[in-house]
Amino acid sequence: MHLIKKYLMAITGLFLSFFLIVHLSANFLLLLPHEIAPNLYNSYSNALRTNPVIEVVSIFLYLAIILHTVIAINLTLRNKRKTETPYHQNKILETSSWPSQNMGLLGLMILIFIIVHMANFWAKVKLGIEGPMPTDINGHSDIYMLVVTSLKDPILVTFYAVMSIPLAMHLSHGVSSAFRSLGVYHKRYMRYIEILSKIYSVVMGLGFGLIPLYIFFFSKVS
Ligand code: HEM
Repeated sequence: MHLIKKYLMAITGLFLSFFLIVHLSANFLLLLPHEIAPNLYNSYSNALRTNPVIEVVSIFLYLAIILHTVIAINLTLRNKRKTETPYHQNKILETSSWPSQNMGLLGLMILIFIIVHMANFWAKVKLGIEGPMPTDINGHSDIYMLVVTSLKDPILVTFYAVMSIPLAMHLSHGVSSAFRSLGVYHKRYMRYIEILSKIYSVVMGLGFGLIPLYIFFFSKVS
């Protein structure tokens, strides 16, 4: 059972990490010049939202977030019980990095981020909690304007920028650890995987941290 949980944790984690690559790429459109960014961002977001395949993938995404969280809580509590002896405590401190010892805390911070983030954007776009979305000149839901006006708020933009740090830390340990859980132990492959997951986590952290700051300082609300 423990092994199945570890596999599920790794597979859901890698799936979520892949989602982040797609999500960051889409959000890079926000950095384009004001003349073209709204149209491109809205067309892309609306095309995705009305695609039935993406609808199905989204359901897997929500399930992956829930499953990853539930198993993480379960494994964290289990490891806590196992490592409460002073011997284990010392062994852990000697052999592992701060992110690897605090994956639960970092994951909790990301979960809080995702809840706030989805309440701000997803609930308004998908659930229409504030009524029907305003549309742009092409008749697409104006998600660009929602994102830009929201991120002009100094508190929200600070929250986004700060939260990109635990995100990067969580990913830097999580991605390589997922490959290990799936059975990749070979020293040479693990070295490459560790380097790639460090690069990946830095790109994700910088991307998700700097895009909101760019919007706050430079994007026009018209
Ligand atoms: C630059 C920062 C970000 C921006 C501007 C942004 C923007 C958005 C927008 C506009 C949506 C709603 C899209 C729609 O439903 O059509 C969305 C959904 C979502 N975002 Fe983000 N996002 C950012 C960072 C993140 C990060 C760092 C995470 C995860 C740690 C994340 C996770 C999600 C999830 C899980 C959804 C729901 C996706 C779905 O329903 O298919 N986002 N984001």
